[in-house]
Amino acid sequence: MLSEVLLVSAPGKVILHGEHAVVHGKVALAVALNLRTFLLLRPQSNGKVCLNLPNIGIKQVWDVGSLQLLDTSFPEQGDVPAPTLEQLEKLKKMADLPRDCVGNESLSLVAFLYLYLAICRKQRTLPSLDIVVWSELPPGAGLGSSAAYSVCLAAALLTACEEVSNPLKDKGSVGRWTEEDLKSINKWAYEGERVIHGNPSGVDNAVSTWGGALRYQQGKMSSLKRLPALQILLTNTKVPRSTKALVAGVRSRLVKFPEIVAPLLTSIDAISLECERVLGEMVAAPVPEQYLILEELMDMNQHHLNALGVGHASLDQLCQVTAAHGLHSKLTGAGGGGCGITLLKPGLERAKVEATKQALTSCGFDCWETSIGASGVSMHSTASVEDPVRQALGL
Ligand code: MEV
Repeated sequence: MLSEVLLVSAPGKVILHGEHAVVHGKVALAVALNLRTFLLLRPQSNGKVCLNLPNIGIKQVWDVGSLQLLDTSFPEQGDVPAPTLEQLEKLKKMADLPRDCVGNESLSLVAFLYLYLAICRKQRTLPSLDIVVWSELPPGAGLGSSAAYSVCLAAALLTACEEVSNPLKDKGSVGRWTEEDLKSINKWAYEGERVIHGNPSGVDNAVSTWGGALRYQQGKMSSLKRLPALQILLTNTKVPRSTKALVAGVRSRLVKFPEIVAPLLTSIDAISLECERVLGEMVAAPVPEQYLILEELMDMNQHHLNALGVGHASLDQLCQVTAAHGLHSKLTGAGGGGCGITLLKPGLERAKVEATKQALTSCGFDCWETSIGASGVSMHSTASVEDPVRQALGL
C-alpha cells in the first residue's frame, strides 16, 4: 500500500451521436470534455475511512473494523468481480441507505464502498483513507459525472493498492497510466457505473478513461486519431432526470414496438457512422459544406431521440431558441432534460453566439462554450492544480 497522497482527475464527456442506441449494440461517438472531476486520496492511520463529496454535501465516515467484517463476503471471484445483488444490499445498509434507494447521489456511496472493498481486498488489512471528490461537472446532466467519479475512484484505489503503478514521475506535474493499466482502471470504473446506473453501455467510463474522441460499440473502442477543432455550446437545462429510468424507458418501447423502434436505432447508428466519416474528411480536406452535414445529422438524431421518448419540453425549447439564431442542437447523454449541444461553426459572428447564449440564459439554462477532446484520467502533483481545485479539495 502506497503511503503518499494521490491527486487524480478524469474528464466528463459529450456524446455527439449514438446515446441510447449504444445500449443496444450500435455505434456511439463520444468526446471528452474540458470539465473534470478531481479526487484527493490521503492515507490515514486512524482506523477510519472518510468519503467527502462537497458538491452534493455528503460526508460519511466508516470504521475500517466494520468494513473488514463486511469484506468477508467479498471472496476472490476473478479479476474484476461484478457486485451481486446480495452484496449491493449489504453495501446499501452500510451506506445507511434504504433498500429501494435509487438516487445517484446516494448510490455514489455504494459505488465507493464496492470499489474500496473489492479493490483493497487483496491487502492484508483494509487501509484507512481520507478521500475528497470534487467536480466541475454538474451532476445528473448527461455529462458523465458519475463515470468520471467511478474512473477517479478506480484509478486512485488501484494506484494506492499498487495494483497499477503510479504514473507520476519525479518532479512531473501530470502523469498518465500505461494502456494496460488504463484497461484495468476502465474495467473497475465500469463496475462502479453499474452500481449507479444498472446496465450502462460503458461508453461514459471509456471516454473518461482514455479521453480524446472515441468510437464505441459493444465494449470495443477506437480513438478517432485526429479530430477537427470543433467548438460547441453546451447547455444545461437543469431539468433533473435519471439515466437508469430513461434507458429502461427506451428498452420497454423497443419491446412494445420492435418494428418501429429497431429501425430508429439502426438509423441512429447510420448517423454516427456518417458523422465519423465527415469528421475524418474535415481533418483531411475541410470545406464549409461539411458543417452543413453535421448540422443536418444533429437535427435528424434529435428527432429520433424524441421518437424514442427521451426528449423533454426544455430540450425542445433549447432547440427552438438556437434554431431562431440559425444554429442546430441535439440532446446529449440520456436526455429527459439534462444537457444539449449546439454546433458552433468556425467564422460564426461573435454577436450571434452571445445573443444565443443570452437567449438560453434567459430561459433559465446554464450555457458555456467549450472545445472537445480533453485528456483522459490523469495523476497530478498536488502543487500543480489551480486554486479553485485546491480550495475545493482542502489542499
Ligand atoms: C448516457 O450518457 C448514455 C446512454 O446511452 C446510456 C449508456 O450508454 O449507458 C443513454
